[in-house]
Amino acid sequence: MSADKPELDEDALLAGLVGPGTPDPSTLVIFGASGDLSRRKLLPALYALAVNGLLPDAFAVLGVGRKAISNEAFQAEMRSAVEEHTRLPFDEATWEGLASGMRYIAAELEDEAAGGPVTDALRALEAEHGTQGNRVFYLAIPPAAMENVVGSVATWRPTGGWRRLIVEKPFGHDLASARQLNAFILERFSEDEVYRIDHYLGKETVQNLAVLRFANGIFEPVWNRQFIDHVQITVAESIGIGSRAAFYEETGATRDIFQNHLLQLLALTAMEPAADFTADAVRNEKVKVFKSLERPASDEVVRGQYGPGVVEGVETIAYRDEEAVAQDSTTETYFAAELHIDNWRWAGTPFFVRCGKRLARRETTIAIQFKNVPHLPFALDSDDDVRPNVLLIHIQPDEGVSMTLNAKVPGHGVTIRTVNMDFAYGGSFRADLPEAYERLILDCMLGDAILFTRADEVEEQWTLVDAIRASWTETGSADPVAYDAGSWGPSEAEDLMQREGRAWRRD
Ligand SMILES: NC(=O)c1ccc[n+]([C@@H]2O[C@H](COP(=O)([O-])OP(=O)(O)OC[C@H]3O[C@@H](n4cnc5c(N)ncnc54)[C@H](OP(=O)(O)O)[C@@H]3O)[C@@H](O)[C@H]2O)c1
Repeated sequence: MSADKPELDEDALLAGLVGPGTPDPSTLVIFGASGDLSRRKLLPALYALAVNGLLPDAFAVLGVGRKAISNEAFQAEMRSAVEEHTRLPFDEATWEGLASGMRYIAAELEDEAAGGPVTDALRALEAEHGTQGNRVFYLAIPPAAMENVVGSVATWRPTGGWRRLIVEKPFGHDLASARQLNAFILERFSEDEVYRIDHYLGKETVQNLAVLRFANGIFEPVWNRQFIDHVQITVAESIGIGSRAAFYEETGATRDIFQNHLLQLLALTAMEPAADFTADAVRNEKVKVFKSLERPASDEVVRGQYGPGVVEGVETIAYRDEEAVAQDSTTETYFAAELHIDNWRWAGTPFFVRCGKRLARRETTIAIQFKNVPHLPFALDSDDDVRPNVLLIHIQPDEGVSMTLNAKVPGHGVTIRTVNMDFAYGGSFRADLPEAYERLILDCMLGDAILFTRADEVEEQWTLVDAIRASWTETGSADPVAYDAGSWGPSEAEDLMQREGRAWRRD
C-alpha cells in the first residue's frame, strides 16, 4: 500500500457505506407485498440496507396487496420473512426501526377510484414520517396486473417530490406485448422514472465485468476477434420448475432466461467502452450490441426438455410428469444457440449461449476462450495438457474470476499442465457480498438507472427472441429434443459446438 493512500475499509465499502451517499427521504410502495418476491428478496434487502445505514432517516414502506390483513399482521409476516431469508444476523432494534414505518393496505386497483384509500394511506404515512412526497412504486405483481396498477398510480396527485416505478420481469412475453407495456407506461411516466429490473445486473460479478474490462489495461487490447476464439455463456439451474408450472408452461427457457439475463450478460461482455459510466452511455452501447446480433439459423439453435434423471444424487421426474404440465407439452426447459455479432470487434467470433433447468449443477459463468498459440516450440509428450487460455467469470454460485494458464510441471524436461489463477470474492474481500436486490433498490432510490434496462433494450431483446421462436414454427421444429435430468443438456447442443471443433466447458 503506498504511503499517500489511506487504507481501504473493505467492510464499509462492501456494505455500501462508502458510496454515492444516502437517498432522499422517501416512501417505498410495494404492490404485491404479500407475494413470494417481496418475502424472499425485497424485505430482506430493505433490512440489509437498514442494517448498513443506507436508508434515509425519513423512510417508510407501504405494502399493497389484495388480501385484507392488519398492519400488525403484515409487520409480523414481514418480520418472519426477514428472519428466514436475511443474509445478516437479525437485529431487533434495526427491525423495530424499519417496522415502525411499515403499513399495509388491501386494494384491487382495477379502476381509478380504487386508488383513493391507497393514496389516503400513503399521504398519512408520508406526513407521519416526513418523506417529502418522494415515492418509489415497486410492481412485484403478476404481468397481467401491471397496466391496472400503473394506470392507477399515474393518476395520483403530484406531491412536489419525485416518483419512480420499478417494474419486475418478465417485461412482456413477446415484442408486441413489451411494446404495448412500454407505450402504456411511457404515456404516464418518463423513461427517467422507469426502472425495469433484470436482477442479474445487480450481481456484484456482473458489475465487476465492466471494471475487469475497462479498468485493466491488459484485457481491452485482446478483447476482440483477433485474440478470442469464442465466448460461452452458461446459465444452468439444477432445480426443476417446482410449483411454477402455470408460469413456466407459458414461458419456457427462452423467454424466462435467454431474453433477459443471458442477453444482458452477452451485451456486457461484447459492448464497446462507454464514454462514461452513466446509465444512458452504457445502455446506448448495449443496444448497439443487440442491433448487431444476427438472427441465428435454425441449425444454430437447440431447444430441449428434461426427461427423468438423477440431479445431484437425487432421482427426478421428467418435465412432462411435473404437476400441472401437459403430457404433450412442447415447452423448452433448455435453450442453446450460436450467436454472431456483426461488427468490427466480433465478426467471426461466435458467442455460444445456453440455459436450462435440471442441469448437472447450478452455475452462471462467462467463459472467454482465447485462440490457441500459433506454434508450440516444445517437444510434446502425450501426457501434455496444452489448452487455450480461458478467462472464466463466475457469476453464481461462487463469485469470482479465474484464468487458465499453461505451466511447466516442475522437474527435468518440459511437461505442460493447465493451471488456474483464481480471484474469489470470498478470499480477496472480507465482507459478504450484498444481494442484487439491495443494490437495485438503493440505486433506484438514488436515481441511478445504470443497472436497469431501457425501453429500447427490452424491445431489441424481444425482437431476437421473437425471430427465433417464429423460426421454430416455420421450420416445423416446434418439438424440443429430450435430455436426461442431471446432464449438461441434449447431445444436439454438443453437436453445435463439435461441428466447429469446439466443446462446452465442463469444469
Ligand atoms: N418470486 C421471485 O423470485 C421472482 C423473481 C423474478 C421476478 N419475479 C416477478 O415478480 C412478480 C411477483 O412475483 P411473486 O413470485 O412474488 O408472485 P406471487 O407470490 O404470486 O405474489 C403476487 C403478488 O401480487 C399480488 N397480486 C396478484 N394479482 C394481483 C392483481 N390482479 N392486482 C394486484 N395485485 C395482485 C398478490 O396479492 P394477493 O396475494 O394479496 O392477492 C401477491 O402479493 C412477478 O411479476 C414475477 O414474475 C418474481
